Amino acid sequence: MAEFPRRPERRPRAKPARAPAQRPPPAVAAAPAPAPAAPTAWQDQAQWYDRRQGDGGDDFHSTLILPAVRRLLAVTPGGGRVLDVACGQGVLGRALAADGIASLGVDASPELIAAARRRAGGREHHLVGDVRDLPGVLAGNGLADERFVAAAVVMALADLDPMAPVLSGIARSLVPGGRCVLALSHPAFRIPRRSGWGWDDVQGMQYRRLDGYLSPLAVPIRTHPGVVDDHSRTLSFHRPLSAYLNACGAAGLGVIAAEELCSHRRGTKGARSAAEDRAAREFPLFLVLAAVALEDCHS
Ligand SMILES: C[S@@+](CC[C@H](N)C(=O)[O-])C[C@H]1O[C@@H](n2cnc3c(N)ncnc32)[C@H](O)[C@@H]1O
Repeated sequence: MAEFPRRPERRPRAKPARAPAQRPPPAVAAAPAPAPAAPTAWQDQAQWYDRRQGDGGDDFHSTLILPAVRRLLAVTPGGGRVLDVACGQGVLGRALAADGIASLGVDASPELIAAARRRAGGREHHLVGDVRDLPGVLAGNGLADERFVAAAVVMALADLDPMAPVLSGIARSLVPGGRCVLALSHPAFRIPRRSGWGWDDVQGMQYRRLDGYLSPLAVPIRTHPGVVDDHSRTLSFHRPLSAYLNACGAAGLGVIAAEELCSHRRGTKGARSAAEDRAAREFPLFLVLAAVALEDCHS
């Protein structure tokens, strides 16, 4: 009997040799970025702010603010250190160091403190911390007993809320009679969303318009107003002048001097330029207060 031709036996196909499974290298856990020490820290803004300030500060800092702060601090080399409260990327400390003065800067933004350390010479030191608890920050870093010859809060009081513990912490950390200098956007003329320039056609004058002053405000401010798709905001706290003076007094800081700084920027073109220059000379952009620590604030 014919046999049905038999199918050739199927031989199992040799499987192509498989390369041993390539496992991804074990993930190296990225070190978590250090957390800001306070919700108002300029962490999202740190890179932009560091670039903008550079080593010597933007033109307002280098031309107006820092010279006034240094005048009113009235410190000389060889005394103790200056406490730079909410120091950002350390622009004041560098200016003081150029005069031979040592400083300690404290800021809530780890990224700005890293920038300050990168830019620092030998006279500046920096700590991450919330300046609403200066005694705690200093004690936590073994500096509870240090008394500073002077302190400054440069363009940062409007970022701090509440303000009272910042000022009382400063007063406690100063030598008796030590100065505290506060530089801020002028609270009577620059009020977020409540002030601006106007033009009076009849008198041919530029005027400052105020739509509010006495009411305290907390206003989110765009960090880079010109940049599309930038959503970073900082919170700015407006307070009237009396709030600053009364907070100083309550903290044991007696105000002894003030400077009101007008813009150095000029050179607008056109028919209104003389009036615009006059307004720039008439309305100060910044207020710088100097106070001294009264002796009894240590008791
Ligand atoms: C406008 S910047 C000024 C920085 C610096 N003084 C200067 O003149 O360039 C405000 C600073 O306040 C800091 N800041 C906000 N809240 C803070 C807080 N509670 N404690 C410490 N620093 C704070 C921000 O991180 C930021 O660096």
